[in-house]
Amino acid sequence: MRLPRVEDIEKRLPTPEDFTSRARGTELTARVGTALGITFGICFLTGMWSHFQYDPPGWLPIGPQPTQLYRVTQGLHVMSGMAAIPLLLVKLWGVYPRLFILPPKKLSRAFVVDVLEKASIGVLVAAGIFQLASGALNIAQWYPWAFSFRRTHEAVAWVAIGALLVHIAVKLPIIRTALGADLEDRDDDHHDSTDDDDEQHGPTRRSVLLGASAASGLAVLLTAGQTVPFLRKISVFGVRDGDGPEDLPINRTARAARTDKTALDPNFRLEVMVGGATMAFSREQLMALPQRTHRLPIACVEGWSRSALWTGVSVCDLIELAGGNPDSDVKVRSLQTKGGFGTSDLPANFVRDHRTLLALELNGEALTLDHGYPCRIIAPNRPGVLQTKWVRQLEVKA
Ligand code: HEM
Repeated sequence: MRLPRVEDIEKRLPTPEDFTSRARGTELTARVGTALGITFGICFLTGMWSHFQYDPPGWLPIGPQPTQLYRVTQGLHVMSGMAAIPLLLVKLWGVYPRLFILPPKKLSRAFVVDVLEKASIGVLVAAGIFQLASGALNIAQWYPWAFSFRRTHEAVAWVAIGALLVHIAVKLPIIRTALGADLEDRDDDHHDSTDDDDEQHGPTRRSVLLGASAASGLAVLLTAGQTVPFLRKISVFGVRDGDGPEDLPINRTARAARTDKTALDPNFRLEVMVGGATMAFSREQLMALPQRTHRLPIACVEGWSRSALWTGVSVCDLIELAGGNPDSDVKVRSLQTKGGFGTSDLPANFVRDHRTLLALELNGEALTLDHGYPCRIIAPNRPGVLQTKWVRQLEVKA
């Protein structure tokens, strides 16, 4: 059997001219691309802000103020990610015929440049699709993969942003011309839009751009309710509708964290360790200490958030009571044995803030088991995964 020659394959491939929609053109792709670039830029910056919450670098001012910041940034992360999905689809539809522009025949500088450019666009498209798909599946709590979402999503974010910057640098002259031109301008080989065989060429660029903006807006509207309270009723795709025991959603149950027995142990004691000394408190003894009440948000890394009224002992009061200096970093340990968040680090600037509580009550009722009974951490401006539940030990770091 004779292998097909390159020419034979080329003959079977469609050519860009075979795609006749009058909507395609750099004037459209440049505008959709700009919107897409903005959503990816917001995703990257808010994503890196989330990344730094886990291990705050000394140069970055991460602290309890402003109280709602992480709620806003991670909500924005997911909203702009959702907005990017229809934009990416329209962008790919717009540029897809260009994939069939064949590289120059001879091995020349032009050939190398063409192949490199196609390769960089390939990396950008693959990384972009991965970020949006992995992010959307993650917040839907469906993890059809064996890798660490957080680490991989962060690593591919750098690839996506790097490839995006290369793409913008290479395409800048074209982008500027296209953005400066009228949307329906025809400076390329597409048919003139005044042709009366409109039905052949389908929608105009303006209607495609309007459609893309509407789809993007709708994607945000249908998910934003998990962050924006007044949209809660219409955001049918919001992963959390805001309801849960004590009027607050649950991400990890006591059963999933394997604390459903240990947390109900009547001999439970919270240990506060300062230097070599340890002070132990039963829940009743904690309830007898001076209580503080604050309205603070739970802001999940998945983008949903909800404010609630928390009552308990402030961590700085407890540390002081145990003879420690509240201007210290504190290691928090949980009864939780399953999952990655059985411990967390409370930096000194959170400990010093009396709104950082060892909470015993939620919305005026004793904490339920799934909300972290017998006691849990709640601090302003912190990702939900670091608001440790079922706390058994606070250790002042030397
Ligand atoms: C539909 C779109 C997206 C969704 C739903 C989404 C969702 C998420 C979630 C849930 C996290 C928190 C991970 C965790 O702490 O466990 C996260 C982190 C992050 N995201 Fe996205 N994301 C999306 C798109 C993007 C895009 C387009 C970029 C960048 C180009 C990006 C960059 C990041 C970065 C850098 C982090 C920090 C990861 C870390 O903590 O190490 N995300 N994203």
